Amino acid sequence: MTKFYTTTAIDYVNGAPHIGHAYEKILTDVIYRHFTQRCENTYFLTGTDEHGIKIQKTAGEKGISPKDFCDMNAQKFIDAWKALDVDYSQFIRTTDKQHEEIVQKIFKKLVEKGDIYKHAYTGLYCSGCEAFLSEKDLTEDGLCPDHLKKPEVVEEENYFFKLTKYKDAIIKHIKTNPDFIVPAFRANEVLNQLENIEDISVSRVKSNVSWGIPVLDNPEQVIYVWIDALSNYITAIGYNPDGESDDKFKNLWPADVQVIGKDILKFHSIYWIAILMALDLPLPKHILAHGWITIDQTKMSKSLGNVISPTSVLEAFNLEIPDPLRYYMASSAPCGKDGNYSDEDFKEKVNAHLANSMGNLLNRTLSMLVKYFDGDIKPEFLGKNELKNQALETVKAVKHHFDYFEVQEAAQKIIELVDITNKYVTDNAPWTLAKEGQMDRCGEVLTNVLQVMTVIASLIYPYCPNIAQAMAEQLGYDIKTKLDDITCESLKAGHLIDKENIKPVFLRMDSELADKKK
Ligand code: ME8
Ligand code: MG
Repeated sequence: MTKFYTTTAIDYVNGAPHIGHAYEKILTDVIYRHFTQRCENTYFLTGTDEHGIKIQKTAGEKGISPKDFCDMNAQKFIDAWKALDVDYSQFIRTTDKQHEEIVQKIFKKLVEKGDIYKHAYTGLYCSGCEAFLSEKDLTEDGLCPDHLKKPEVVEEENYFFKLTKYKDAIIKHIKTNPDFIVPAFRANEVLNQLENIEDISVSRVKSNVSWGIPVLDNPEQVIYVWIDALSNYITAIGYNPDGESDDKFKNLWPADVQVIGKDILKFHSIYWIAILMALDLPLPKHILAHGWITIDQTKMSKSLGNVISPTSVLEAFNLEIPDPLRYYMASSAPCGKDGNYSDEDFKEKVNAHLANSMGNLLNRTLSMLVKYFDGDIKPEFLGKNELKNQALETVKAVKHHFDYFEVQEAAQKIIELVDITNKYVTDNAPWTLAKEGQMDRCGEVLTNVLQVMTVIASLIYPYCPNIAQAMAEQLGYDIKTKLDDITCESLKAGHLIDKENIKPVFLRMDSELADKKK
């Protein structure tokens, strides 16, 4: 594998980022960082979705222009991802000029191809969903089931996209590529939705929705949110519908995995795929639909007042690095399932895994090497490493899990290796060996553990980049080592641990030391 291109959903800017949005970006960042440890050419796209009636209305209520409103809110997302060390390559905004121009050309191309046509229409429009609903979608009281609002009756002549033309091809693609939709159990859901699809409205009259990209040859029509939003994955990297695309596009497309929430799987595995087919473009290799993050087991919502911002969590716990929150979120749910956030559970889990198990193991091993051997790894310590196979097997297992985007499952494997290594220390009791004067064996045990710690630093890096970096620095290990080059033998004879540099890589969140830093 040489290249890896991943994307996230682009968030609506009508509110501030919450930890559900954060979950998706962290998950994608962990996947992305893992693949930077395996591939040379990697790219990670995220951004914001800024057009549509909801944003137009909210900005209007606040008495500011939609563009100013978008600028203000997009910045909140940019700031949040920075605080979480989300290492994206590009942040696209659908109000970017390049994006708007290419979307217009895409639309024009599809009109010319006959895949977009004009059609007079009466429909039930929910502005919360930014979508037309059919009668059977509604609750008994005629409300949108997601927003509990009565949809508006809209009568318009709009442009329609011939979704039905691609129905059979999409069904065939999903059936012949069982790993296309991840997790696989969601594929049936999509196949059922495909049974009932109709052509979709892809524009609105300007008098109803003005905050959007105008249709090139008919400025009275504004391109409706999904064609605009979905196209970001190719406009960002320089797709050109009527000429030569940029090298970046040629090198990166198709995406290797597009990460989204389960609520927008239909748009990505049906609408988006049909658009790509209509443009004669290759399809993404995988669509990863993640589950919901709930708070104390309930859905986050403004009306319940339980919406948590990711930066407020960092502040509440006085965290100088986002690693604990990243680790907790990324390992909160099996691939595709819902996960939960609670303050108590957060503290307990990261204290147990990152401080007590992993951090402590490194700290006490390094301290013993300094105490007994002045930090010197002597040639006679490099004997047989009973942990080496286990460590290399873990690398393999972690890679395997990431091939299936099983981010929680991979984290479990890493912690298992930490636990095994801790048990090895307990079983071999290097302090007893030292007391009994078995110094070579004592040095060997400590060195074996430190070799494994280099592997653990590499494996934990996508989740905890700062902690991994601190571990690597204390070990004198190059964290940039590619996973395929890991040998579990990178500490060589004569390697000297810098004793001045030894300190806990992560303090328990409720420890006195952590408190003192406040
Ligand atoms: O859907 N838990 O934007 P959005 C986990 N603009 N994920 C959550 C979540 C939660 N509680 N709440 C939201 C949109 N998300 C469109 C996308 S893509 C071309 C256009 C996820 O701001 C949600 O599933 O409503 C989606 O993937 C992302 O956050 C943005 O949601
Ligand atoms: Mg949403």
